[in-house]
Amino acid sequence: MLYFGVDYYPEHWPESRWETDARMMQEAGINVVRLAEFAWALLEPEDGRFDFEWLDRAINVLARRQIKIVLGTPSATPPPWLWQKIPDSALVDENGTPREYGSRREYSPTHSDYRAHAVRIARAMAQHYAANSQVIGWQIDNEFGDRCYAPGTRLAFQNWLKERYGSLETLNECWGTRFWSHIYTDWAQIPVPVKRVHAQHNPSLHLDYYRFMSEVYVEFQQLQVDALREICPPEQFITHNFMGFGYPRINYFDLAKSLDLVTWDNYPRGFWVTTQDIAPAPIALGHVTMRSLKKQNFWVMEQQSGQGSWETLPPMTRPGEIALWAYQAIAHGADGIVFFRWRTCRFGVEQYWHGVLDHDGQGRRRYVEVKQMGQEIARAGTLIAGSEVRAEVAIMLSYDSRFAFEIQPNNPDFSYERHLTDYYTALHQANIPVDVVAPDDVLNGYKLVIVPALYITEMETVQHLTTFVERGGTLIVTARSGVKDHTNIVVNHVLPGLLAPLCGVEVQEYDSPLSGEKRALKFIADDFAGQGKAAVWCDILKPTTARVLAEYAEDFYAGQPAVTLNSVGSGVVIYSGTMGDATFVESIVEYARQHTDVQSLLETPPQVEVTARWRGDQRLLFILNHADVTHEIKIEDGYIDLLSGQEQENILKLQPKQVMILQVT
Ligand code: GLA
Repeated sequence: MLYFGVDYYPEHWPESRWETDARMMQEAGINVVRLAEFAWALLEPEDGRFDFEWLDRAINVLARRQIKIVLGTPSATPPPWLWQKIPDSALVDENGTPREYGSRREYSPTHSDYRAHAVRIARAMAQHYAANSQVIGWQIDNEFGDRCYAPGTRLAFQNWLKERYGSLETLNECWGTRFWSHIYTDWAQIPVPVKRVHAQHNPSLHLDYYRFMSEVYVEFQQLQVDALREICPPEQFITHNFMGFGYPRINYFDLAKSLDLVTWDNYPRGFWVTTQDIAPAPIALGHVTMRSLKKQNFWVMEQQSGQGSWETLPPMTRPGEIALWAYQAIAHGADGIVFFRWRTCRFGVEQYWHGVLDHDGQGRRRYVEVKQMGQEIARAGTLIAGSEVRAEVAIMLSYDSRFAFEIQPNNPDFSYERHLTDYYTALHQANIPVDVVAPDDVLNGYKLVIVPALYITEMETVQHLTTFVERGGTLIVTARSGVKDHTNIVVNHVLPGLLAPLCGVEVQEYDSPLSGEKRALKFIADDFAGQGKAAVWCDILKPTTARVLAEYAEDFYAGQPAVTLNSVGSGVVIYSGTMGDATFVESIVEYARQHTDVQSLLETPPQVEVTARWRGDQRLLFILNHADVTHEIKIEDGYIDLLSGQEQENILKLQPKQVMILQVT
């Protein structure tokens, strides 16, 4: 079943309205709602006194309309009485400032009393709703993430280090603490990397702290997972709402492990977006990453419906965008779409975070759009749900490297996220399905693997990559890979470190261009029609076993190798010594494809996205026109469009923002 829902806050509206809401939802094809993830103060109005009656009544109203429920545990919003009871439970930020009460996410995730209260409310909810067949799942907390530097967190960090390193001698050795006289003789001396230091903290301490904070949320989540699992039947799934590819502070592969389902919050036109044109590739990368965390279909638990903001408003979602973005999620493997939020709230911080309905409860353009999609989903949903995306290309996402680059970006223009997005975009433009893989993944089944800037490189990854290439795979490795070991210390090898033998190159020297500077490249290999320029980083290479594909054509390293190709076993490794501009990245990806038989699903103009979902050998082709103009696309087979029910032959004509889901006739 394909779930089609809304995030609903019945507690924000008079009970007399609930029936109208439920009816309008049903008429729009809504079959699931998420409830209660911020309702702690109503669910537990006083310490230890629980009140589920109002929620029961809301659920009953929805149940009569065949609407299923996902319940959120409310630990993101502590009620005032709890804050008063444990005033030292505040999260302390990197400037050393404790959060004041008055918004949400004020808590320190290491605070033992806070944890106990969070588990207690989760447990009470579970006891009340485990037997309720309307409830199909649980969301734990809401968008985990901020790092905490409170005294209790510091103590927890010290204990975490003790477990990890065993002795201070080992820790001192691994971190290189003799630098600037940091040799620790007592665990209690070890700081957390608050900003109030003269320069920077030791990068090894800093990375360990980032890893630790990521694990703190995994652990905090686990406490609630355990409480729910103990009480609830296995049919009720447990999830958390992630923040997509863009969120850098938690190792999402770890966070996903003990969950049944990954869900995430997708806001393509949030207040932070400064352009009218919303590029489809970064949104798609969010979906791809979320699908890849557990290598299974996912949900969008908050899909933008109206314009989103707190203080100043960005442009309203354009006609067609709501359905387009929701279908895009489905196209990449979503089996559930939940729109944020049902009705725009009249009070509180999110007064201007627009939902499907307006403040006055009327359903206008956005409601009509959702309703139309609901009707389409009612027809096509069962054919789509459970079908899978299949990819032959993978991009490696290393949270260790991402954390380490956050500490030391290497070049002012370098962004790990952007670098990875550039590679993804090149594949996306060619309509090639992609998975995101973790550094410890075995790479069976892929034909092309891209390893962008794997700054922290572990031997296990090198082994997997080597096996992959020896068996015929094509690998792209880019600059700043293999630079650091696990403890964030620069390796004692010629770069790219552990990857040097596989890449067949040695880095002789490197240059870090000034912001915005580019260097011309000369593409010297007959088989490589390269384009674009070097940018952000320039490794000056010396091939050992590789051959040169491109040289620098400028600066003191003009004539020196920039890009190489190494043959290993039945496969090849392309090493790019530069991040390069977008054109360069496209041509590297294009060149890599020449070594594989990875096919585009369909050649389309820019802004027309194509994906496929499979069930056995049955394929559904999703065609999404993100453009504001009509596009015509040539097709070979005859299809039926599941959304319109119309047959399509020879030429597809897609109106602006139109989506088709094609099945071969
Ligand atoms: C996030 C949160 C929601 C809401 C929206 C809009 O994704 O999970 O509770 O705040 O953003 O701001």
